[in-house]
Amino acid sequence: MGKKRFYITSPLYYVNADPHIGHAYTEIACDCIARYERMKGKEVFFLTGTDEHGQKILRSAEDNGKAPIDFVDSVVPKFKDLWKGLSISYDDFIRTTEKRHVDTVQKVLATLYKKGDIYQDEYKGFYCTPCETFWPKMQLEDGLCPDCKHKVEEISETNYFFKLSKYQDWLKNYIKETPGFISPGFRRNEVLGYLEEPLNDLCISRPNTRLSWGINIPFAQDHVTYVWFDALINYISGCGWGSDDKKFKECWPCDFHVIGKDILRPHAVYWPIMLHALGVELPKTIFAHGWWMMGGSKMSKSKGNVIDPFEIIEKYGQNAFRYFLLREVTFGLDGTFSEEVFITRFNGDLANDLGNLLNRTLTMVEKYFDGVVPEEGDMDEQDKALDDKLKGLPAKIDKFLPELNFNQSLISVWEVINIANKHIEVSKPWQLAKENKIERLKALMHILLKVLSYSALYIYPFMPGCSLEMIKQLGLDIKEKDITFDRLRSGLLKPGTKINKGSPIFPRIDSN
Ligand code: MSP
Repeated sequence: MGKKRFYITSPLYYVNADPHIGHAYTEIACDCIARYERMKGKEVFFLTGTDEHGQKILRSAEDNGKAPIDFVDSVVPKFKDLWKGLSISYDDFIRTTEKRHVDTVQKVLATLYKKGDIYQDEYKGFYCTPCETFWPKMQLEDGLCPDCKHKVEEISETNYFFKLSKYQDWLKNYIKETPGFISPGFRRNEVLGYLEEPLNDLCISRPNTRLSWGINIPFAQDHVTYVWFDALINYISGCGWGSDDKKFKECWPCDFHVIGKDILRPHAVYWPIMLHALGVELPKTIFAHGWWMMGGSKMSKSKGNVIDPFEIIEKYGQNAFRYFLLREVTFGLDGTFSEEVFITRFNGDLANDLGNLLNRTLTMVEKYFDGVVPEEGDMDEQDKALDDKLKGLPAKIDKFLPELNFNQSLISVWEVINIANKHIEVSKPWQLAKENKIERLKALMHILLKVLSYSALYIYPFMPGCSLEMIKQLGLDIKEKDITFDRLRSGLLKPGTKINKGSPIFPRIDSN
């Protein structure tokens, strides 16, 4: 058997509409972690994809005058284009309409049915089409769906049910005994809260007289599978459960399911019970992040308040976009997106702090040393303080990133960048040059180049494109595949090599 891979998943995005920044957020976060784990030398399996069945998608296909499969085929490339535009390094992209997924869903259904965990019953309830959810009467709010406040339809029909209730106590105990399973902690408490109420069995079928766009249930040809039951299974169909044992053993248990807080219940209640009933180990961590809001409410297609990520990339570049989403809010909490705040952060952190440090340092190396990296000189107190800060950085990143604490990781990198900028102001290299204090100047330029070189590599998971550009301008002899923490340990700067100054990496945005 091969060695255990680091396995991270994004949710599968609904293809009823074009991608927006909420989707980009989850994907960028997963990509950052995948890149960081690769830097640590891990074999990574990063799975993403699209959720293509169900009423909502069927409606959108009809609205577009297309057969459902033609409609989903036309939307999937938009997601793939966006991931390309954001340099998302996924290893596999799974579509729920693919045979490998359909076969696995049917196998899961057949196994659970045979085991007696799926049974047939009459269903009476209120159905919310936008949310694809049945609600008991007592949970309706003023007769409307408690989640999206849309009108619900009363329905009575024969369906198949999955015995969630049988496993409620087991799940409650598991969550209590496994603190890191649901993260952040306040989300774990929220799930324990749901589990205080009796859990209803989950209706996992839809009669195909009402909905035909779904995966056929192998023991009930007149029903298709409920879209959530279908979609969750991607996490195992995408890594070989029931079809490729070697791959499955290398990947499972999954290290991280990264999701938004709106889809916590299916992930933290249905999914663990499905796996447990199948006899499959549970994932290590389910992490639920917050929402990006616009004008006080969640950004979503149905509210018509979405920001088009393609537009932001076009205007400001993928690096700044990735940086902003990961830096601006603590992962797990909500944030408000505004172009004004985006520009402030761009001009401050990226143009003034990082971009300027790179540009002014390279300009000085060209001016004072003909563009050649000087030898390490005798460090003065301030050089040493900066060097110590730099040396402390990997430990901070290794503390924060495995907890998906993106903004603290970036804040730690920027602390060093800011100290380097202050060091320039205080040490006045132009003065040193005038006074011909060449040894001091050499030492100063060397430490600044060292800070920039290490920073270029540390920011790789967050802004891979910017990192590669910095590597190029600094003249470092490193290929993308060699960006690892091992490589960092063996030193980066080679005195005597030429730098390669280019244009500023983040030119200031004039917002007027
Ligand atoms: N198809 C389901 C997930 C199935 S996973 C087996 C789904 N799709 S979705 O397209 O609606 O949402 C995908 C992800 O995008 C979710 O994690 C969701 O939280 C995230 N976001 C959608 N809008 C968002 C914001 N406005 N802000 C942040 N993320 C949000 O749910």
